[in-house]
Amino acid sequence: MDPHAYKQDFPILSQRVRGTQPLTYLDNGASTHRPQSVIDAQIQVDTECYSNVHRGAHWLSDVATDRYEESRDRVQQFIGASDNREVVFTSGTTASINLVARGWGDKHLGENDEIVISEMEHHSNIVPWQQLAERTGAVVKFIPIDQTGHLDLEAAEDLISSRTKVIAFAHASNVLGTINPVADLMRLANAVGAVTVLDAAQSAPHMKLNVTDLGVDFVAFSAHKMLGPNGLGVLYGRASLLEGMDPVLGGGSMIHSVSVDGYVPAAIPTRFEAGTPAIGQALAFPAALDYLDAVGLDAIHAHEQQLCELAHRQLAEIRGLTILGPEPAQKTGIVSFVVDGVHPQDLAFALDQQGVAIRAGHHCAMPLHAKLGIPASARCSFYLYNTEEDVAALTAAVRKAVNLFS
Ligand SMILES: Cc1ncc(COP(=O)(O)O)c(C=O)c1O
Repeated sequence: MDPHAYKQDFPILSQRVRGTQPLTYLDNGASTHRPQSVIDAQIQVDTECYSNVHRGAHWLSDVATDRYEESRDRVQQFIGASDNREVVFTSGTTASINLVARGWGDKHLGENDEIVISEMEHHSNIVPWQQLAERTGAVVKFIPIDQTGHLDLEAAEDLISSRTKVIAFAHASNVLGTINPVADLMRLANAVGAVTVLDAAQSAPHMKLNVTDLGVDFVAFSAHKMLGPNGLGVLYGRASLLEGMDPVLGGGSMIHSVSVDGYVPAAIPTRFEAGTPAIGQALAFPAALDYLDAVGLDAIHAHEQQLCELAHRQLAEIRGLTILGPEPAQKTGIVSFVVDGVHPQDLAFALDQQGVAIRAGHHCAMPLHAKLGIPASARCSFYLYNTEEDVAALTAAVRKAVNLFS
């Protein structure tokens, strides 16, 4: 793993912040950057093969349609799905989870059925279930986290019962970085016949993900968090479940036929891709997956853990600073922290003045912050192009900011 070499592949990272400071980009949990190969793929799409898909009667539309379906095949291969019909293109993780909540949930949940999620979820994996509960009379229950930032599995076992119809959880937390024990949760889900939904927004970019091995029913992730284009996401769904789902959006492309009497939906996955999809993004996405495969997901995960270890060691020496969540060996490349007497927003502002980009706030995880008893935190999140020098820049900037504020 040579992050310095990878960094060279990302033109945006060579910029200077406000023309002066080198950019230390540590906000990869929010969105990652695109290497030159993905930028080139986007340009190639626009200059050679862009057209609408699945509706053309001409050569260029056929080229675009073939490439669109090839992208679906590439995603299928990347996540180890057994059938390309199980890959639905969406606009992102949020859209993917909403699609399950509406398309599957509205049909299968009723009064007093239970939806089990966890306290560490992103709002995208909370609110769609709360809305589903509002529509159906179902109840949302939360698996608590323990002191170390892990799910309390004993509590989960007590919570999950024959009333549980769906269990939706993050593969990795976007705040704590905690990697959740999918196999344990699958065992609990299978024991009661619950459908499982895995929010892989923070895992698919950082570790090997094989949906068949995991055995989950639905998996959601976003291209923009894994070197890919913005505006594209994926919903993996088990074919037998997708086939039983109603389309959520109606319109062009998602139908088999329409008459004045009604409509017949198309087969899966087209049924869930109403309207003109994110064509350019879908066509360029394989270039991102190729890049990730060339570096290797295992190597990326190991590299991020090394950076986390270094960051933990260095940040822990700063007076009043507390790191949230588990030890580096149990998480992805995320380090969230709070500093006594310094608001995370002020800290992020001070870091930005030194060219270090982190995120501050509740990171779309207000229930988690409420549980931790803090309104907000500062988060740095690593990726394959981050280096030990980036960690040193982070530590120096935090130290300087803390001295300034105290
Ligand atoms: C764990 C998790 N789930 C869902 C999302 C939502 O992803 P998107 O905004 O791409 O839909 C995010 C984004 O930060 C996330 O970290």
